[in-house]
Amino acid sequence: MIIRQSRDEDLDSIMAIYERAFGKKNEALLTKEILSDAGAEPSLSLIAIVDGNPVGHIVFTKGNIDGADESTNAWILAQTAVVPESQGLGIGDDLTLNGLRHLAEQNADVVFVFGHPVYYPRFGFQPASTFDLGAPYPIPDKHRYSWMVRELNLGAMRDLHGQVKCAGGLNISEYWGK
Ligand SMILES: CC(C)(COP(=O)(O)OP(=O)(O)OC[C@H]1O[C@@H](n2cnc3c(N)ncnc32)[C@H](O)[C@@H]1OP(=O)(O)O)[C@@H](O)C(=O)NCCC(=O)NCCS
Repeated sequence: MIIRQSRDEDLDSIMAIYERAFGKKNEALLTKEILSDAGAEPSLSLIAIVDGNPVGHIVFTKGNIDGADESTNAWILAQTAVVPESQGLGIGDDLTLNGLRHLAEQNADVVFVFGHPVYYPRFGFQPASTFDLGAPYPIPDKHRYSWMVRELNLGAMRDLHGQVKCAGGLNISEYWGK
């Protein structure tokens, strides 16, 4: 398996990964919006390829934390998916770990995700509410543990509080469980 940064010409393949993984178009369209939105830059978009076939994707976008020091380098794991026949083989883990490593190399302080509370703790994500780090939109109570944070720069979360702001495609209430 190869994991590399995605290119413009990968867009159709990336959309196909989401459409197949979720069985509907919404997430594919959202991912297209995230990847096409200059306002969401910088982003980190990685594609996994096995035997020449695109099988997985992950994208992180830059975030800001209102109320925190402006120099805080925050990111959001915005979308990820693996095609159904390749799920459960470790590709999702590889994409996530690869992305977190890239971000750490770029001096990222923290990464947030709004995702499955059973899946992400394996990568070190913890409920963000514990640290008084609010999501861009109010999160329904039933999804409160889905808003998570992971420290990448040791000590970065000490005294870190505030409300996360996001750009582009993620800046809609539907994304946040409404
Ligand atoms: C979630 C997803 C990206 C994981 O990729 P993957 O390559 O299948 O994951 P891996 O093989 O690295 O890891 C498999 C683990 O993920 C868990 N997992 C897979 N889908 C999951 C889900 N929807 N919710 C919670 N855990 C999930 C499996 O139970 C398995 O756990 P285990 O290692 O404890 O047995 C992939 O299954 C997928 O695309 N699912 C559908 C789309 C989706 O839900 N994307 C958003 C995730 S928030």
